[in-house]
Amino acid sequence: MNVDEEVATAKKVAPPEPKYKHWLFGSGYAMRNNAHLEVVRLVEECGEIFTLTLPFTRIVVAAKPEYARHVLVENNKNYRKSLAYDMLKILLGNGLLTSEGDFWRKQRRLIQPAFSKQKLAALTAMMVNRSQMEAERIVGLAKTGEYFDVTNDMTALTLDIISEAIFSSGIDGQEDFVAKQITLLNQMATEKLNAPIRLPQNLPTPFNMKEKRVVKSLDDVIYSIINKRRKEGVSKNDLLSMLLDVRDEDTGEAMDNQQLRDEVMTIFIAGNETTANAMSWILYLLSQNPEQEALMMKEIDEKLDAGVELTFENIMQFQYVRMVIDESLRLFPPAWMVGRRNYEDDEIGGYHIQKGTNVLMPIWYFHRSEKFWDEPLKFKPERFAPEKRNQIDRFVYFPFGGGPRLCIGNNFALLEMQIILISLYRKFRFELKPGFMVEPEPLITLRPKYGMVMKAVER
Ligand code: HEM
Repeated sequence: MNVDEEVATAKKVAPPEPKYKHWLFGSGYAMRNNAHLEVVRLVEECGEIFTLTLPFTRIVVAAKPEYARHVLVENNKNYRKSLAYDMLKILLGNGLLTSEGDFWRKQRRLIQPAFSKQKLAALTAMMVNRSQMEAERIVGLAKTGEYFDVTNDMTALTLDIISEAIFSSGIDGQEDFVAKQITLLNQMATEKLNAPIRLPQNLPTPFNMKEKRVVKSLDDVIYSIINKRRKEGVSKNDLLSMLLDVRDEDTGEAMDNQQLRDEVMTIFIAGNETTANAMSWILYLLSQNPEQEALMMKEIDEKLDAGVELTFENIMQFQYVRMVIDESLRLFPPAWMVGRRNYEDDEIGGYHIQKGTNVLMPIWYFHRSEKFWDEPLKFKPERFAPEKRNQIDRFVYFPFGGGPRLCIGNNFALLEMQIILISLYRKFRFELKPGFMVEPEPLITLRPKYGMVMKAVER
């Protein structure tokens, strides 16, 4: 570096830091509780880009659409996944969500066809069948008028659907067990992330040992299904068979057992947790907004009464249902934050971003800021009417992320949620238990902290 360059580098300034700093743990310590709300407060205090410090960790929050576009699209080659994803690696290994570079690119190309239109069309009947079975189950609860936690039901249903899509069979009656383990791991990953000092994952601390046990219990479930399938040697029309059958473009080799496990586990977890949380928030928002709920039920009744069948092609006709989903993902985005780390120094908004910085993009803030939305806290599905939807900036509203690492399951999730909503609201509406406290908890995904206790009311 010549003298001029050195002077220029020395002048490069990092984004500003908030006033309050914990004497030992730094300014990032403020994010340990209710980080989704804290981030909004910090944007007000510091502006659209600011630094947070933590021991051994550099964080920059980038809360402007052009910054998100820069990181996720324009300069994405300079960025890998952020620290939060390291916490997930113990569970997801080197699967699609957590892998990087050429390896990720190759895996994405191999797996993408499993989410094609034809594949989704082939899954539609199964999704309808499973959702209608769930509706039948709820009939009993509606008759007695008892309150129940819909979060559990939505978790079981989305787990059932994703298991069918991957394994074309359930998970041998272990749904409840698996759901509990996933929630536990979500809590543990967040606890690790928020700990002021992170110990290496391979130290045999009680926390690490417990986490390993939980992961092992899920591994046992997945491996037993993979091994059974290998033994049967029969190819089925599901994701597992597809992954067993694909061959490396260069070497012609099949995926080894470890990689197969990582990809299956990733899709299994990513395809369940996010969608189940989204569904709970949708039922909540509809219960609080009777006018929009009525409009949605009217659409469902009119279409179904006119004989529209729930096929892949017809689902698009339920426009208002889709608008309700889009608006709910705006107000309660299950992936409330995405983050990346830069390989090389970068510049964002005129500020210097030193290499190795975790650049966080707070989706929750983008989705709820008055800067981008009129009456942002109001539930208004009309914002997403087809003629208006295209006018929304891709990086003001991005519940499924953006750029090359966009959610591979976005259309799967949208189809699934539309089918579940249509199947349930054909028969019931849901009412929140009076006085029940609803609070978002920003774990790796945004979930209702105390669940969502509601009752189904027959229509
Ligand atoms: C409402 C439901 C869902 C939401 C909000 C959601 C959100 C997201 C987001 C924001 C990302 C990008 C993360 C990043 O950029 O760091 C992502 C990635 C991913 N999602 Fe989803 N997702 C949902 C449903 C699903 C479903 C149903 C599946 C599978 C069936 C799935 C599988 C994945 C995978 C494998 C990735 C990693 C893709 C890659 O990096 O190539 N997701 N998801």
